[in-house]
Amino acid sequence: MSGAKGGARAVREDRLWQRHADMAKLGGTAKGGVNRQALSAEDAAARNLLASWAHARGFSVFTDAIGNLFVRREGADATAVPVMSGSHMDSQPTGGRFDGMYGVLAAFEALEAMEDAGVKTRRPVIAVAWTNEEGSRFQPGAMGSAVFAGRYALDDMLAAKDWEGIALRDALASTLAAAPAPMRPGKPGFAVAGYVEAHIEQGPRLENEHKTIGVVTGIQGSRRYIVQVDGEEAHAGTTPRAARKDAFAAATRMAAAMYAATADEGDTLRFTIGRVEVHPGSPNTVPGRAGFTIDLRHPSDEILEAQEKALHEIVAREAAPCAARIERVTNVAPTDFDPAVIDLVRARAKALKLPSMDMPSGAGHDAMHIATLCPAGMIFVPCERGISHNEIENATPGDLAAGTRVLVAVLEELANR
Ligand code: GLV
Ligand code: MN
Ligand code: MN
Repeated sequence: MSGAKGGARAVREDRLWQRHADMAKLGGTAKGGVNRQALSAEDAAARNLLASWAHARGFSVFTDAIGNLFVRREGADATAVPVMSGSHMDSQPTGGRFDGMYGVLAAFEALEAMEDAGVKTRRPVIAVAWTNEEGSRFQPGAMGSAVFAGRYALDDMLAAKDWEGIALRDALASTLAAAPAPMRPGKPGFAVAGYVEAHIEQGPRLENEHKTIGVVTGIQGSRRYIVQVDGEEAHAGTTPRAARKDAFAAATRMAAAMYAATADEGDTLRFTIGRVEVHPGSPNTVPGRAGFTIDLRHPSDEILEAQEKALHEIVAREAAPCAARIERVTNVAPTDFDPAVIDLVRARAKALKLPSMDMPSGAGHDAMHIATLCPAGMIFVPCERGISHNEIENATPGDLAAGTRVLVAVLEELANR
């Protein structure tokens, strides 16, 4: 790679691409994506594969009490606070091969490239795979990084249950039994000197503007809610309308009012109902219970606050003759990344002659929590048509390698400070 210095010149596009292909077999789906949900057998298999690659390169591997998996390459000063890079290996139920996995494999490739180029950094450099970023099986998402940063309490997270009622504590124990790694004692979290996460953009801007590198300036705020409606089960054939307490009918009135209330003119507010449950789920029984999730995002916390009020009002207004409540399960304020890290990403992309643009992130990432601990930033690369959270998610080997070259150059700089 012309212009590349240090470990960046040793980034191997073929190796990085092959590692994505190897990981994609774990939970691989017929449509070419992955179903590798947090703390599943497939997640354990991915942990074992990453650890086996790490051992083969002589890097040390350890985990912590929430199951975050760390791969460490030593620096010249073993006592220096490390720099870190990574993302997540869990996926959506119909996920793609790159969301999260790219950030883990780019970080691992960075370690390998530094090794191959004989680069010695002052600080250790750690590649990390955070537990349960997606939050589709266990809520809340970005859990491992939030516990690491001290934003969520470990015990609360261990008590979380999936949609089948399985406790995270038990799923984590099975995962760590299937993918054992030395346990770092005590509560998760240690000092970090800097954090940079690589990720596919998950939107269409880089591709549309023919840029290879997104210099990520921040992440919009996000909140998640669960709405629960309680009605009364009744016979579908005999019960007149006036006598029904149909929980699903009330839920659909709420949903319709919420879609209308959140349709802002500038199309900035993001409102999604992604999961609906109707009980007892029998065609000829009036539903006695209905529940749905809400994912709400906007760059302004004030707007999220105002929208939350509106959601509460809608639930109260549309509930009768049923009873209903709305509960907030996640509230992550907007993140502004560190200006010096942003500048460094932009400068290294330029030095590598890669076209870049500044952009905020619409998706949430583990970096939003680690940014509360240390200077942090992110590097985006394009994905095909901006499609993500979809089995057809795709990216090119060249773009993945380009983002990794920028990552190595940035990590080297941070690790020598
Ligand atoms: C992570 O996938 C998110 O929901 O933004
Ligand atoms: Mn992700
Ligand atoms: Mn995702």
